[in-house]
Amino acid sequence: MSGLFITFEGGDGVGKSTQVRLLADYLAEQGHTVVTTREPGGTELGQEIRNIVLHHRGEIAPRAEALLYAADRAHHISTLVRPSLERGEVVLQDRYFDSSVAYQGAGRVLDGDEIRNISMWATGDLFPDLTILLDLDPAAARVRLDAADKVFDRLENEEQEFHSRVREGFLALAAAEPQRWLVLDASAPRDEIAAAIQARVGSLR
Ligand code: TYD
Repeated sequence: MSGLFITFEGGDGVGKSTQVRLLADYLAEQGHTVVTTREPGGTELGQEIRNIVLHHRGEIAPRAEALLYAADRAHHISTLVRPSLERGEVVLQDRYFDSSVAYQGAGRVLDGDEIRNISMWATGDLFPDLTILLDLDPAAARVRLDAADKVFDRLENEEQEFHSRVREGFLALAAAEPQRWLVLDASAPRDEIAAAIQARVGSLR
């Protein structure tokens, strides 16, 4: 596969979608064909799954939740991401399997390695070339989410302690695979973060 696959990770309200957009604009200006996408919900089928996992009222058993994210992922990677990479395009993706490990693992019910293995099966072992972690204290992220004035989904409604475990989960994943990850302080100015991302992406090519 000749394209470039870059994923963005972090808690809710850390500014991932802004950075995806800034990097997409930058790479497009340089003449690359850029695909921006996200999980859950990067495909039409994925939108339906996204609605279930984020807005279903009532309980979803933890294993069922993990499999719903994996089903979204399997379809997304197979029908959108792999074909784009095979055409040599740059894929910028808001969340990938690391989100499953950090979020579904943070509930303490499921084992991180098991969750990762399910994703690996679902995607046929597709690893990103680079994963950018926008790291932010959940209390600061909460202030941003409150200011955004939108309806909270199931996970955004989880208590602070859950979000602290998610943050620790991401930091542990990054520490375990430092060559794949770029960890940035998401409280830094937007353009400073964008410049750091551009520098790292430049060194990949
Ligand atoms: P996101 O699209 O970043 O939310 P928003 O568009 O509202 O900013 O992510 C939706 C939520 O899904 C987020 O709280 C994290 C959660 N999530 C998981 O729990 N597991 C996963 O595998 C993925 C991809 C997301």
